[in-house]
Amino acid sequence: MSVIRSTVTGCGSFLPEKILTNDDLSKMVDTSDEWIVQRTGITQRHIAGEGEMTSDLALAAARRALADAGRDAQDIDTIILATATPDNTFPATAVTVQAGLGIHHGAAFDIHAVCSGFVYALTTADAYIRSGLARRCLVIGAETFSRILDWEDRTTCVLFGDGAGAVVVEASEGVGSNDDRGILTSHLRSDGRHKDKLYVDGGPSSTQTVGHLRMEGREVYKHAVGMITDVIEDAYKATGLTSEDLTWFVPHQANKRIIDASARKLKIAPEKVVTTVQLHGNTSAASIPLALDTAVRDGRIKKNDLLMLEAMGGGFTWGSVLLRW
Ligand code: UT7
Repeated sequence: MSVIRSTVTGCGSFLPEKILTNDDLSKMVDTSDEWIVQRTGITQRHIAGEGEMTSDLALAAARRALADAGRDAQDIDTIILATATPDNTFPATAVTVQAGLGIHHGAAFDIHAVCSGFVYALTTADAYIRSGLARRCLVIGAETFSRILDWEDRTTCVLFGDGAGAVVVEASEGVGSNDDRGILTSHLRSDGRHKDKLYVDGGPSSTQTVGHLRMEGREVYKHAVGMITDVIEDAYKATGLTSEDLTWFVPHQANKRIIDASARKLKIAPEKVVTTVQLHGNTSAASIPLALDTAVRDGRIKKNDLLMLEAMGGGFTWGSVLLRW
């Protein structure tokens, strides 16, 4: 049986030049390298420069992904950009990227699912491709969380960073088996009852300000592992595959303890886990494509490898994507 699959044909990422270390942070708030490393695994994060916007990071990552895929920008018909830190309330940051790439055809729009944004955007691209609405998508996760942090709140400002990652996703033909390249299954969830546990205390319709990130860290932590493992088990049920079959586990990079606990619960061998949180902090929607690009560049992820992506974040939103690279 011939089926349409959405296959990743290239990836790229971009990080702002400025690095903020844990020691730098300990001069700004009452914290220490020891506390941050022990509770999160993070040692440093990148911070966007003055005037450097989410679209700038996204555009740089997109150009690298296009080059990696061997595609010209004109080959792209749909741009889906996941972000919770757009340049402006509107228009969508995706259209700024579209203009930057010199594309005047097709569609460009943003997706807002906070840390799960990339999983939501990739799943949307897959649905567009399989329905025939799109053939070649640029899927981007890009954030400048440094702009919405309260730099006096030590419980949040040490956790996040800025960055962007992108993938080119193209329609390809498969036979409908788990050996096909491309997205094999994806599972999205949300539960708005948890919306006040991780949120920004401002917005156009509520305060007419941008606001700052607020989080009940313990509460998020408490739900994270269960939600992550649920959607991964959904992917196993849908395909008959198991943790043993995975080549790589590429989780959202929020906290090393959450990543390790999820992998343990799912019996995923530690050597299969791609972890970049130590160098990037939590870059929200950018964290999975940043991790993907890191592991592709250093030679870990190769064509035909089986990858499990997962994320959980504000909303709460959560989801998984199982794909063959
Ligand atoms: O994509 C989803 C995004 N969010 C997350 O993934 C966050 C999930 N949550 C977490 O990762 C953890 O809850 C944190 C890393 C945020 C916090 O770790 P924790 O082990 O849950 O610590 P806690 O909030 O229970 O705080 C323990 C202590 C408190 O002091 P007392 O009350 O015990 O005296 C905090 O005030 O640590 C204190 N604390 C800090 N100390 C030094 C909180 N932040 C800091 C800090 N430096 N930066």
